Amino acid sequence: MQVHNFEKIWLGAAILLIVGFIATISYGTVGAGISMVDDSGGQISAQAVQNGNTGTQFDDPGVVQASEDRVVVYVVAQQFQFRPGSGDTPIRVPADTRVTFKVTSADVVHGFSIAETNINTMVIPGQVAEVTAVFDETGTYGLVCHEYCGAAHHTMGGSVEVVPKDQYEPQEVSN
Ligand code: CUA
Repeated sequence: MQVHNFEKIWLGAAILLIVGFIATISYGTVGAGISMVDDSGGQISAQAVQNGNTGTQFDDPGVVQASEDRVVVYVVAQQFQFRPGSGDTPIRVPADTRVTFKVTSADVVHGFSIAETNINTMVIPGQVAEVTAVFDETGTYGLVCHEYCGAAHHTMGGSVEVVPKDQYEPQEVSN
């Protein structure tokens, strides 16, 4: 059977395209460090979060040093602020360290998205959203609520300050 050169080129190009598509999808799935937020954070009573009597760290949210190279950040989202995160209480974490964000809501559905990163989750009352990341660049990152949560939704935001690991001092957690 005679196959024209031109046809061979087109065949080759089509096969390359298919292989390329499969490669980019595979990379996006497993290679880029992106994972879905699952239900590993567990459940909590939104009413208790609101009243501050959950009996968990959410009653006194903030950054907790879990071990030498891991911090856990407890954040309460509520109309229309993040505690900590909003106003004059930025979330301060060390660079090059595993940072686990545990975020829950005291009222309605909010969003928790850190600009310039792939940290992005819904915050659903009754659930604890859990996201782990490592910041390898220091600086201040914007924090935004990206789920409509009421009249002042557009004002709900804050910041995350990533400081060099050797300059990081754990914040006082009072309780
Ligand atoms: Cu909270 Cu929008």
